[in-house]
Amino acid sequence: MRKVAIVGAGQSRYGEFPDKSIKELFFEAYRDMASSVDRNFDPKRIGAAYVGNLGCGGFQLGNLSALVSEFVGLPYIHTMRIENACASGGYALATAAMDVMAGVHDVVLAGGVEKMTDVSGSKGKYWLGVSGDTEYERLAGTTFSGLYALLAQRHMHEFGTKREHLSMVAVKNHKNGALNPKAQFQRETTLEKAMAAPMVAAPLNLFDCCSTTDGASAVLVCSAEAAKSFTDTPIWIEGFGTSSDYLAIHDRAETVALEGTRRAADRAYKMASKGPQDIELAEVHDCFTIAELLAYEDLGFCKKGEAGRYIEEGHPEIGGDRPVNASGGLKAKGHPIGSTGTGQAYEMFHQLRGSVEKPGRQVKDAEVGLLHNVGGSGGTVAVTILGR
Ligand SMILES: CC(C)(COP(=O)(O)OP(=O)(O)OC[C@H]1O[C@@H](n2cnc3c(N)ncnc32)[C@H](O)[C@@H]1OP(=O)(O)O)[C@@H](O)C(=O)NCCC(=O)NCCS
Repeated sequence: MRKVAIVGAGQSRYGEFPDKSIKELFFEAYRDMASSVDRNFDPKRIGAAYVGNLGCGGFQLGNLSALVSEFVGLPYIHTMRIENACASGGYALATAAMDVMAGVHDVVLAGGVEKMTDVSGSKGKYWLGVSGDTEYERLAGTTFSGLYALLAQRHMHEFGTKREHLSMVAVKNHKNGALNPKAQFQRETTLEKAMAAPMVAAPLNLFDCCSTTDGASAVLVCSAEAAKSFTDTPIWIEGFGTSSDYLAIHDRAETVALEGTRRAADRAYKMASKGPQDIELAEVHDCFTIAELLAYEDLGFCKKGEAGRYIEEGHPEIGGDRPVNASGGLKAKGHPIGSTGTGQAYEMFHQLRGSVEKPGRQVKDAEVGLLHNVGGSGGTVAVTILGR
């Protein structure tokens, strides 16, 4: 199979943009990607586009990938919307990599876009809920914050994880987001404020939740041969793995782990011939603070049950031995569903090339980074390992 590189990456600002259409948001990311390619960028070389999207903020527009592809100047290509809930972008990236590996196309666009703030809060929650189990959980009235609250309750019960540990994730990610000019929330918070925020679904409060966000991202994926014409410093897709899981939490053998993460990570580590010890920084799926704690454990950064101690000891801080969510994560950077996976790739592309906009967020001299993108409450997971 052919080696696969990323040679350009772009992202729109994340936030609430009532005046921008879904096409305009995608164009913003595409233009940013094009300007990041060192030389010879030519849209005519792009043979395919895979676009992560859950459903245009609940409006369920059809033929979305054709719509955004032609708008950026790419009519007449193989284009396809990838829908795997919040992991849509991670799967768009994996699909682009498979396409190039197999030799079907040499240059491929992987991206994602979502516009979530055009619908009311209650419609948004209803719409997001379709990514979980709709026959039992949904009928019992669960929302995603409710489902992750159950996982948090169980983790606290079994391992003594504390309320403070959840809030430490929020404090860390808001601190990083404050240094990210494209983040939705560019403001720090304190442990006291994070712990005292209004309750959403016990034990998760407002600062344990990601927000609803408009945004888009795009990365240019290509073969090693094609990469030579674009840049001298490609970022390699060293490995990727994906896994599904039982959708309903009550069908799973365990409720203190996401088995999909473990299996996807295992596959990515194998393909890259690497293990958790080789990962120098990571962008993980912190849709809720408990999800980031679970990710430390399920990706093998620490043992099961020890995530609380892991963050207490400062390992995932910028300046720690393995920074996690230097971008601000979903918590502060924002979570425009379909864009999140390729948005993580955008951050890692710049981190590994040493080209992050604001120096305070730049992790120095890192060579290997991991992306972790989860759909719903773990029904789909994509893990990607990138290297310099
Ligand atoms: C967390 C959540 C319930 C908040 O919704 P809401 O109460 O309607 O929030 P609003 O948009 O009205 O914002 C109210 C205030 O809280 C702030 N805010 C909103 N979400 C926030 C968040 N996640 N963290 C911190 N502050 C937040 C807003 O900036 C606003 O502040 P202001 O009054 O100073 O302007 C909602 O964003 C949510 O459901 N998030 C989860 C989305 C989700 O499930 N995604 C899929 C994951 S699997």
